[in-house]
Amino acid sequence: MQRDSWGSRIGFVLAAAGSAIGLGTVWRLPYVAGEQGGGLFFFIFIILLMTVGTSLLLAEFVLGRSTKEGAIEAYRKIAPKGQWHLIGIIGMVASFLLLSFYSVVGGWITTYFVRSFTGNVTNPPDGDHAALFEQITSNPWEVGIAHLAFMIMTILVVQMGIKKGIEKASIYMMPALFVIFLILMVRSLTLDGAYEGVVYFLQPDFSALTGDTFLFALGQAFFSLSLGVSVMVTYSSYLDKNASLPSSAWSVVLLSVLIAIMAGLAIFPALYAFDMPPDQGPMLIFSVIPAVFGQLAFGEVFFFLFMLLMLFATLTSAFSLIEIIVTPLIRGKEYLRKRMTWIVGLLIFAMGIPSNLSYSLLSDTYFFGMIFFDAVDYLVSNILLPLGALLISLFVAYKMKKPDLREELLRGSKLGDRFFSIWLLMIRFITPFCIIVVFFYLIFG
Ligand code: PFF
Repeated sequence: MQRDSWGSRIGFVLAAAGSAIGLGTVWRLPYVAGEQGGGLFFFIFIILLMTVGTSLLLAEFVLGRSTKEGAIEAYRKIAPKGQWHLIGIIGMVASFLLLSFYSVVGGWITTYFVRSFTGNVTNPPDGDHAALFEQITSNPWEVGIAHLAFMIMTILVVQMGIKKGIEKASIYMMPALFVIFLILMVRSLTLDGAYEGVVYFLQPDFSALTGDTFLFALGQAFFSLSLGVSVMVTYSSYLDKNASLPSSAWSVVLLSVLIAIMAGLAIFPALYAFDMPPDQGPMLIFSVIPAVFGQLAFGEVFFFLFMLLMLFATLTSAFSLIEIIVTPLIRGKEYLRKRMTWIVGLLIFAMGIPSNLSYSLLSDTYFFGMIFFDAVDYLVSNILLPLGALLISLFVAYKMKKPDLREELLRGSKLGDRFFSIWLLMIRFITPFCIIVVFFYLIFG
């Protein structure tokens, strides 16, 4: 049986953009930006995405496509001696843990989505949206079932394979996500008082600029592009030999930037129009936004659309997080895919249970001073992801041969040696340097 592959380059780009555009972009980014002073944060984030982020994305693409192997074998093929494949294993562990709590939020979204049919989310009986969120997350059964439902949706798609599963779902979900954002953005921008929100979002406030702004933005840029866990190595390993890597990477980055801007323009103007606080942290999506929709004509319809969008964004990222684990386990034997996907998916669900219970039964149990959910998030986002990103960048830059890198990077592309030299400079020195700075800051800062 043949190794699966993407049916088209656009399918690959949409799936990779689907992995990139997720809770990080539509949920975390707006609230971190809200806390970090708005416009300037976004601006720095976008610049970093287009420079350091894009170089590392290309490094993962080059490694994946040239070896046509998943997380473990890709490293082994390039460096058979030594323990380099541990980079892939770190990526698999990180993805496993990441999806275990990512899917908990996926479950909350699923619950809100289902509840949006009844309208009691935008207009809770006692008018208190934050209390409703607490009430929902503290009910282990409701969020537990929603968590499982979210994982099953993810498994059902991934078990169908690259072309028939992930690509097909992404081809429907990503354009739908874009159209819904467009609708929400237009609605938000045409509200009375929206302008102030646009100013908040786009006007750089230099007084808010600190070292933190820069470091948060860089961490966010890596997270947003799904870098450091070999997801992009895995996805590109299924890509046609002659598709241009630089233009694929640009498409992914530009789509991410576009959606990040659309998310900002959909959220902040609406918050300002209704006098809602922009700096409410994680609660932004689950309590502030429903409150905004509650005040809008046809608010339930818009809220339903918003939750559908969130669901698509979260699912397309979840596909990639299972796929990176499934690919090395089946090694091209597609007949094993179904069974492996179910096993991996259900194990991730089980691993997520304590994260889910962090808001109910385990709310008083602390690990390193944090609830379980936050402890796993910390381990993955602040340690495993930057570590993986650093190792991948160094591996590609120093373990792969220069002529091979050049060949793979430029094949099918109109770009020439200048581009190659700049990219090499980025992945050899600048990207690792930036990651080391963030890494130390995140752990010791
Ligand atoms: N890029 C995703 C987001 O922004 O939500 C998160 C993510 C997905 C990170 C897949 C890493 C990954 F491998």
